[in-house]
Amino acid sequence: MRTKIVAGNWKMNMDKAGTKTLLSDLVAQLPQTGALVMVAPTFVNLESAVNQLNGIPVEAVAQNMHFEDSGAYTGEISAEMLLSIGIQTVILGHSERRAYFHETDELLEKKVAKALEKDMRVIFCFGEELVDRKAGKHFEVVERQLSKALFNLPENAWNHIILAYEPVWAIGTGETASPEQAQEMHGFIRERLAAAFSSTIADSVSILYGGSVKPGNAKEIFSKPDVDGGLIGGAALKAEDFVSIIRAFD
Ligand code: PGA
Repeated sequence: MRTKIVAGNWKMNMDKAGTKTLLSDLVAQLPQTGALVMVAPTFVNLESAVNQLNGIPVEAVAQNMHFEDSGAYTGEISAEMLLSIGIQTVILGHSERRAYFHETDELLEKKVAKALEKDMRVIFCFGEELVDRKAGKHFEVVERQLSKALFNLPENAWNHIILAYEPVWAIGTGETASPEQAQEMHGFIRERLAAAFSSTIADSVSILYGGSVKPGNAKEIFSKPDVDGGLIGGAALKAEDFVSIIRAFD
């Protein structure tokens, strides 16, 4: 049985007070569904989120980190810093990091390696742009993104990896991949994992879908056999919406 996961990526939203309120609203309504629930507030509010969620089955995770341990990297945050405030999981490779901050597959390979070296769990994001899909290159693009950062890992790294397929054209656009498109890609990813590693690994990795998941479409997307949950952006900023997405696993 793969772990079912609903993770909220808050991006650059919510100040200190907003973080506190959103978390307390979430905790007050948190359903027990067996799904692992995660939230990723901004760096400045991560420690207070960890403290507020103490004893609550919701994990605070980071949206990014640097690949070096420390040094002259102005504005950056290391794995050790995250670990020191109780963060065990980091989102890497989000399409906004790739597009606006020029994160490449090569850079992400280093970030993943550092997170794993520190025994952290990685939510690794990837996905094609609209031009790729229109050109029929979406499988090729996804395979390239995965193989560079992940296909050279040792097999035992895979229990620390969560995959998040996020077609760029579906992020924040209101346009969702159809459940069939999500299933098709997730199935393809498992095939590639089975070929590169083993069917045991392919069958055990949780693969989340992300891109305009909302209360109205979560159940149908999550019902697909190779979709193990979602990485939620906009709808994670409203406790009721996020909770009803978690309830899709009821
Ligand atoms: P969205 O974002 O749900 O607002 O489309 C998803 C994401 O970027 O992870």
